[in-house]
Amino acid sequence: TTSSLIDPYGRRIDYLRISVTDRCDFRCTYCMDEDVIFIPKRHILSLEEVVQVAKTFIKMGTKRIRITGGEPLVRKNLLWALEQIAKTDGLEELTITTNGSQLEKMSQSLLDAGVSRINVSLDTLNAERFFKLTRRDKFQQVINGIDKATSLTFKRLKLNSVILKNHNDDEIQALAAFALERGMDISYIEEMPLGMIHDHDRAEAYLSSDDIIDRLGQHFVLTESNLTTGGPTRYYNVAGYQNKIGVISPHSHNFCSDCNRVRLTAEGRLLLCLGNEHSKDLKPFLRSPSLAPGTLEEGIISALALKPYQHHFNLEDPPQILRFMSATGG
Ligand code: GTP
Ligand code: 5AD
Ligand code: SF4
Repeated sequence: TTSSLIDPYGRRIDYLRISVTDRCDFRCTYCMDEDVIFIPKRHILSLEEVVQVAKTFIKMGTKRIRITGGEPLVRKNLLWALEQIAKTDGLEELTITTNGSQLEKMSQSLLDAGVSRINVSLDTLNAERFFKLTRRDKFQQVINGIDKATSLTFKRLKLNSVILKNHNDDEIQALAAFALERGMDISYIEEMPLGMIHDHDRAEAYLSSDDIIDRLGQHFVLTESNLTTGGPTRYYNVAGYQNKIGVISPHSHNFCSDCNRVRLTAEGRLLLCLGNEHSKDLKPFLRSPSLAPGTLEEGIISALALKPYQHHFNLEDPPQILRFMSATGG
């Protein structure tokens, strides 16, 4: 069957990101404030509802699903939902993005449930700095989690590092060495202006991917790679290593023209673009189908028609997008 998931610009949308919770056991300074107020639980989709949406998307042509948060692994019974999604015919890949805090105890179950790739967020290798950046004292727990995951047979493991000037830009090389030595890829991410945070000035902290690649070039021999995992990461080969170094550059290299994805927020809104508010609430289709204007499938198709062409992130103005990254799943 051919996919019905084509947006108004002809882009095939075969990748769905599902945020299963906005809650998190960390408080990363670029993501949320310490006194963040989480969404009341009754507004959050049940895992049955999440699975229903996932299966519908797969039936309509979605090939890859990434589970995100907040921190997805703090959601109770998540493994059940992962199993249901992973075994659905037509899905090629189920992946997850995590802060790593639960990986020591959960890696094996994630592999058994059918997760093939894990991206772990880690911005520093220094325990004190980790505490400053995440406001939680869980550095060793994350390292233990990474060690556990790398001891198993996942298809790919990747480190995600958001690099901020004068916060952690002195660790660019060390983070790469850490990942490459463990058989992991690494992506460096330019910070995006989502949510109003009070920790630092985003324009001042901005460091471009090109600067990062220049700095890494002093320590590694890098050549552009044609690898793609179907996401925004642009990868480089590293001489002497099997794994890749990548950059995600929403500011310096806009990748919207190739966008292949939409997002389901924890409350069941289908968000058409990370950097815009265009969305459609799918909850009525799930909770009161008799009142909903059509089937869930029809709801999804009408939502796709709302997908904007691109984001307009601007570091100089206060963020136009007040939604926090944690409600969206990155
Ligand atoms: P794979 O390519 O599947 O390995 O995953 P990924 O790197 O796209 O996903 P991950 O969850 O690890 O996200 C890494 C970073 O990319 C996060 O900061 C996301 O917010 C960002 N990102 C992912 N998709 C988009 C997108 O469509 N637009 C923008 N601007 N950023 C994105
Ligand atoms: N800009 C860029 N990346 C962010 N992340 C969280 N908040 C931001 C932001 N404002 C990253 C996390 C994680 C991924 C899902 O998104 O570090 O790696
Ligand atoms: Fe939690 Fe990820 Fe946000 Fe950090 S970036 S507070 S780990 S959701």
